[in-house]
Amino acid sequence: MKPTYYITTPIYYVNGAPHIGHAYTSIAADVLARFKRLDGYDVFFLTGTDEHGQKVEAAARAAGLDTQAYTDKISQDFRDMSDAMGVSYDDWIRTTEQRHKDSCAALWKKIEASGDIYLGHYEGWYAVRDEAFYDESELKTNDAGVKVAPSGAPVEWVREPSYFFKLSAWQDRLLQFYEEHPEFIAPSSRKSEVLSFVKGGLHDLSVSRTTFNWGIPVPDAPGHVMYVWLDALTNYITAAGFPNENADKWKFWPADVHFVGKDIIRFHAVYWPAFLMSAGIAPPTRISSHGWWVVDGEKMSKSLGNVVEPRALAKTFGLDQIRYFLLREKPFGADGSLNHQAIISRMNVELANDLGNLAQRSLSLIAKNLGGVLPARGPATEDDIALLDAANALPDMVRARMEQQTFHEALEDIWKVIRAANSYIDRQAPWALRKTDPERMAVVLRVLVDTMRVVATLLQPFMPESIAKMLDQLGVPGEARTLAALAVPLADGTVLPAPQGVFPRYVEPV
Ligand code: MSP
Repeated sequence: MKPTYYITTPIYYVNGAPHIGHAYTSIAADVLARFKRLDGYDVFFLTGTDEHGQKVEAAARAAGLDTQAYTDKISQDFRDMSDAMGVSYDDWIRTTEQRHKDSCAALWKKIEASGDIYLGHYEGWYAVRDEAFYDESELKTNDAGVKVAPSGAPVEWVREPSYFFKLSAWQDRLLQFYEEHPEFIAPSSRKSEVLSFVKGGLHDLSVSRTTFNWGIPVPDAPGHVMYVWLDALTNYITAAGFPNENADKWKFWPADVHFVGKDIIRFHAVYWPAFLMSAGIAPPTRISSHGWWVVDGEKMSKSLGNVVEPRALAKTFGLDQIRYFLLREKPFGADGSLNHQAIISRMNVELANDLGNLAQRSLSLIAKNLGGVLPARGPATEDDIALLDAANALPDMVRARMEQQTFHEALEDIWKVIRAANSYIDRQAPWALRKTDPERMAVVLRVLVDTMRVVATLLQPFMPESIAKMLDQLGVPGEARTLAALAVPLADGTVLPAPQGVFPRYVEPV
């Protein structure tokens, strides 16, 4: 039986249209999901939409639509965006679905049964934009002299009856959990942030609201709807079949990686494991967090009019080019700036020149001089062995990078081999060998095909469409594109299709 691997994205608020920040989390998760499938795992990849709470209710009102009709529309838009960006999810969850309402009610009851929920009164600050409660001490003053959330979101003073979760009682157990699971929060800079937040002392958390009703009802408590984050986080177990722990899907729990942006770590790394432990359910294995994209150095905002629509960007530059750029341009955990010049440069230098030309040069020599037939391996020189060794070391290196979600390092490792292959072809000059030593030329070309096969196999998760074409041209059969299949050499004499450029250069439209 294949080992299981469960990957999630955050579920997206349906208060507005999808933008490149959302696409980024989903593409990163998709790359890992695709990689794990290639590496022989039974992957369950979940994404979807977060549809309750005050923020969504207000957005529906502003759009003049019935709340459910509004969420149906925006959820579908997120789903279309995910499909358009090649996100290979296995399940699309919506928090307004019945399965999720049942799951939330069941989780609530378990937490309640463990004695961690009590009725009280919440009085304090709330930021609708973040759907978060803040302590007075966390607030800052903005340029206009107004108190705002640490994120800059406006806050309002809330006073209402509320159920509380005894988060304060979980402080020590959380700290112990982090200590026993050093890989739980990534990257480590974020881990320190979480540790100091928890060590600073945890307050009980308000987990129900009574001043609006767009939410999941608290069982047996008329007037109370669940706090949207308790509702939202529960999606990860709903999709695994909860509360039916006999469901086939339950084999995927605990999730292996929850991908999140840096802004929502606290909810995932503090509240979520506490809720789960209280309910007697195992916490997830890892919370992997990423930094934010700004556009040309500026924060994206509707008022600046610089919000980047992912589908439009893919249309301009190509989907695989954008997927590659997003994961290559900056370290996963760091912030980065998106700008067209940077995309064009990666597209032209790394994809068109380094990788595209390597394939095109090698394959057109095979087409022209060897009748398009894959030559056999031959006696290897030191130079051949050095390149092949570097290529054959890649799968383990990339696998290790993927375990850490350091995608840009995985790509850099792969590019080192691509660059080495380019120097190799220049040094070996197979075009000149054609006359002087055709047998050696054939060996050199085979070394290049074998190297590119490893490279392309590993690049599939990043650029599925283009790399599928490249693997076609390299004569790699569909079933031989997994990591395990790399152990079996390509059949000598395979007839290769006529080579065609896979990575076009970007040409400015006139
Ligand atoms: N609904 C919550 C998540 C609930 S998960 C149980 C939420 N939704 S969101 O739509 O606001 O954000 C979803 C994700 O998009 C977050 O991980 C966030 O970090 C990410 N991004 C939003 N803007 C971003 C950028 N500008 N850049 C990169 N990622 C960004 O939070």
